[in-house]
Amino acid sequence: MTYTTVIVEQHDAVTLVRLNRPQALNALNSEVLGELIQLFAAYDADASQRCLVLTGSEKAFAAGADIKEMQPKDFSAMYVENFFAGWERVTNTRKPWIAAVAGYALGGGCELAMMSDFILAADTAKFGQPEIKLGVAPGMGGSQRLTRAVGKAKAMEMCLTGRMMDAAEAERASLVSRVVPAAELVDEALKVAAQIAAMPPLAALACKEMVNAAFETGLQQGVVFERRLFHALNATADKVEGMTAFVDKRPGNWTGR
Ligand code: CAA
Repeated sequence: MTYTTVIVEQHDAVTLVRLNRPQALNALNSEVLGELIQLFAAYDADASQRCLVLTGSEKAFAAGADIKEMQPKDFSAMYVENFFAGWERVTNTRKPWIAAVAGYALGGGCELAMMSDFILAADTAKFGQPEIKLGVAPGMGGSQRLTRAVGKAKAMEMCLTGRMMDAAEAERASLVSRVVPAAELVDEALKVAAQIAAMPPLAALACKEMVNAAFETGLQQGVVFERRLFHALNATADKVEGMTAFVDKRPGNWTGR
């Protein structure tokens, strides 16, 4: 498949995707969304690919939804198009993916990063929801995912003032899993992705489903959901292989069955 707004490379079982609209600091317009929808669907469908890394440039992961595209649209245009609804395809990706963020992750850029399974940040990363300064508010899930990630006080302050959070604060606030030097970001993300790609794939799918369920259910229900998936994994060939390999003191050889 050929894309015009993203660059896609395969590194063994890891897909590396670079947002590539440097003239607009990777602003997310409908074309980018359309291509991300296609490529996440292709990633989910490709059994040879087991983890994906989404990154931007040194200056910007993405500086938001495309303001120039949104500027002429009134309420009815947005409502009829159900503007932004397509992002659900990205959040519905079943296989693991990581956002590797350097530079600006603002508005829709911060929201896209938060759609990932976790964010690895460069020490140059800056996160923010500055939509209020444009007379609007977050529209791609920022008010919900940021609040779940960092709590009400910081999320509210960021949405109401539009101030940016730097990488160190983002790590303290648990918005990102780790901060690494900018020059090492992509290599480090590929290394973590390769570790995930080397895991038994059904167990990886299950881990992702379980952790995400924590945001949708009460504790008791969530624990039961986890336990049922745990029980189900015991029916897989990879469980037999994993536990046998442990007992035999050798690495597991996964079939994804
Ligand atoms: N949409 C469209 N174009 C954008 C853009 C965006 N979100 N962000 C930057 N650009 C464009 C600029 O218009 C500029 O293009 P021109 O050269 O044609 O003028 C180019 O990218 C470079 O940007 P700057 O010259 O502004 O770069 P800078 O280094 O001076 O500033 C910045 C960087 C602080 C990130 C600044 O670009 C900025 O504030 N961008 C907008 C950030 C923003 O408000 N994001 C939220 C968007 S709304 C949203 O995302 C809604 C939602 O909830 C989903």
